[in-house]
Amino acid sequence: MARRAVVLALALAAVMPLLSVAEALGYSKAIRPFLHKRLRPVDILHGVSFASAASGYDELTANLSNVLPLSKQLEYFTEYKMRLRQIAGARKAENIIKKAVAVLSMGTNDFLQNYYLEPIRPKQYTLEEYQNYLASCMSEDVKTMHSLGITRLVVVGVPALGCMPLVKTLMNQNTCVDKYNNFSSSFNAKLNAKLGIARKALGMKIGYVDAYGIFQDAVNNPEKHGLIEASKGCCGTGTVEYGDTCKGISTCADASKYIFWDAVHPTERMYEIIAGQAIESLRKQLMS
Ligand SMILES: *[C@@H]1O[C@H](CO)[C@@H](O)[C@H](O)[C@H]1NC(C)=O
Ligand SMILES: *[C@@H]1O[C@H](CO)[C@@H](O)[C@H](O)[C@H]1NC(C)=O
Repeated sequence: MARRAVVLALALAAVMPLLSVAEALGYSKAIRPFLHKRLRPVDILHGVSFASAASGYDELTANLSNVLPLSKQLEYFTEYKMRLRQIAGARKAENIIKKAVAVLSMGTNDFLQNYYLEPIRPKQYTLEEYQNYLASCMSEDVKTMHSLGITRLVVVGVPALGCMPLVKTLMNQNTCVDKYNNFSSSFNAKLNAKLGIARKALGMKIGYVDAYGIFQDAVNNPEKHGLIEASKGCCGTGTVEYGDTCKGISTCADASKYIFWDAVHPTERMYEIIAGQAIESLRKQLMS
């Protein structure tokens, strides 16, 4: 890309680290979190991350894990805009925000961490109703972002949750769990319907990353991507451990041949693959 866009990350959950998006967009360095203790003026100009892992479209998801919900991230975004104005001046700041790409990547934790583990939402909503609820939360979020000056947005769909090693273990299956993949794809369809409405109503450029399709392709044809292990995670047994439970236990010899780092999260290599494929379609969708 000839011209770099500032990248602003919002509410990242388990799917795609901004690092990969930023790298794929042509940055040599990761963008810093907005709350970094030594945030420099150059970082402000370069783009920052407001993302908080384990948050979701449902504010309750962030509350359950004690992380920052999107509403809080957008407050920080407002602060960011003020600092940008101080550094760059009002006119240039406005221009930077207008050209910036915001990345929104969440949803996995709404299902796996919230709906399937906690009793609150299942008492209020059927799974289908909950999907509709999440999709309308997203719609509202997009409107808020638009009102804050964001004109270019990338939304990452949820991956094929049924192919996660943890889900397969819990459901006692060797192959991807249809039921979970089905609700991943039906949820993505609902997101897409809302995004179509938002594009028209708000005149925003909104790109969509089909993480589900990219994942499915890697799981079905790992060798095409230079991968060998599509089923197990690299850490521990590869079937149940994830996050902190991977600390201090043995790992596979070469994580770059694995799709999954642990029973939930992709490896750095897989993130590169997602980012690389995403960027091709995003260029077309956003940079025109
Ligand atoms: C999340 O926590 C905040 C702060 O305690 C509260 O105001 C908000 O209502 C909570 N949201 C949900 C959905 O639980
Ligand atoms: C998943 O969706 C496919 C295609 O729509 C359907 O054939 C299958 O029965 C569904 N499986 C489950 C478990 O819902």
